[in-house]
Amino acid sequence: MRIQVRSGQLGQVRDGVQVFAALEGERRAERLLPSSSARDPALRRLVDAAGFRGAANETVLLPRNGRWVLVVGLGKEADLSLERVRQLAGTAAKTVRAKGFRRLTLPVLSQRGLGLPASVAQAAIEGALLGLYRYDRLKQLPKHEQGRRIDAITLVVERVGDMAHAKRGAAKAEVLAQAVALARDWINGPSNLITPTFLANQARALARQLRLKCRVIPFPQLKRLGFGGIVGVAQGSAHPAQFIVIEYAPRRAKATFALCGKGITFDSGGLSLKPAAKMEQMKYDMSGAAAVLATVKAAATLRLPARVIGIIAAAENLPSGTAQKPGDVLKTLSGKTVEVLNTDAEGRLVLADCLHYAKRFKPDAAVDLATLTGACVIALGGEAIGLMTKDERLAARLNQAGKATYERVWRLPLWDEYGPAMKSDIADLRNVTNTGEAGTITAAKFLEEFAAGMPWAHLDIAGTAWTEKEKPYVPKGAVGIGVRLLIELMERWHAER
Ligand code: BES
Ligand code: ZN
Ligand code: ZN
Repeated sequence: MRIQVRSGQLGQVRDGVQVFAALEGERRAERLLPSSSARDPALRRLVDAAGFRGAANETVLLPRNGRWVLVVGLGKEADLSLERVRQLAGTAAKTVRAKGFRRLTLPVLSQRGLGLPASVAQAAIEGALLGLYRYDRLKQLPKHEQGRRIDAITLVVERVGDMAHAKRGAAKAEVLAQAVALARDWINGPSNLITPTFLANQARALARQLRLKCRVIPFPQLKRLGFGGIVGVAQGSAHPAQFIVIEYAPRRAKATFALCGKGITFDSGGLSLKPAAKMEQMKYDMSGAAAVLATVKAAATLRLPARVIGIIAAAENLPSGTAQKPGDVLKTLSGKTVEVLNTDAEGRLVLADCLHYAKRFKPDAAVDLATLTGACVIALGGEAIGLMTKDERLAARLNQAGKATYERVWRLPLWDEYGPAMKSDIADLRNVTNTGEAGTITAAKFLEEFAAGMPWAHLDIAGTAWTEKEKPYVPKGAVGIGVRLLIELMERWHAER
């Protein structure tokens, strides 16, 4: 895929399908964007004649001067945002591909309230590349889809002076979209291929490519070193657990981030077996790990001036003759003991060891990402990540990064009154409550025990990591959520210092 930036009027750039945007509302002359297209009344008449309203992501393909023009709805002017731009670009790129074209030209809109050309260009390329993503490596595409691919995207800025900024934004978007696609590939990949060992090998390969530090602790050593949480979860599986630490440490780092990822490559529930319905989806229980690994890759590629340490517990949760049993007590890396009353609450067990391990890096912030609770899916659905933290500054920054990337977070309380529900009679902690109340929060209270002393935030991505319905720049399946959010968080962090 070639991405280039040119300056001039969109209507003059002859490079594949020209994509125009249109605002929803009354039939005003300025409805078509970029505004230079207002000087093409014939185009305007065509759009009106097609009964096109301009609703968000509405499309119409029209012939114009021997070329093809695609008009995509932007929605109401009052709702203009970078997210609208991402969606518009995703819709446009997918539509152009589906119609059998190979190239498209997108405007870098300069409407008030959208922001600088670099951000708008970034949003457009993010939307287009993420929208074009598909997981097709395990099947033969039907005849009519074979060879349908986009080869080139041209961005058009109206002012020559904006070219360099747009190029910078587009280049950043390419890095981010590639990282997100990598995470999606891992998440969409079935658990017989994406094993803990596979993830460890991917981390090693990334480390080699990008000259990162990488340490993988294999299962026998985890047993010896006292990683009781991970060992307890992994001991029922034929696939050995892998504890992965991958570190990007630039010379002039302004801050240190520890990113912990839940990497359950398949969660059957263990002996507390899940019902059969939709169990196949539980291959996505390593979405946190995928996001963390992809974020480290993106951070290193973008040369972020921060030290970023990815800490991943990769394991498979299966029942067998060697599996842990309800009632077993394990000793975590921290020394705290846990009574495992439900083997399906395994994410918190592996994360306990990750979070304790993170302390040795004395991070300015530790953030964990995990498909942790079904309760979070019930509470927030697919639109918001559950955020739990006592650190107000971290909460505010995650909230801002969430709004900017549209990987939005919604905070739930982490009040101490929720804590006692996780106490056990015979061990320091139990891994489930006996009431089932506040499942997302009590899971976070459990994690908090192992994060003590670090500025820490927990992100429950159970509802947002996977989608059953296609969105403009997210196909069905893995979302790859978390990568753009974390990069944005870390970038803003040092921008303020
Ligand atoms: N991986 C699941 C959580 C999950 C559920 C993620 C649905 C995505 C969609 C987690 O390991 C789990 O099974 N949690 C249990 C905890 C319970 C036993 C306290 C749950 O949420 O049911
Ligand atoms: Zn589980
Ligand atoms: Zn799980």
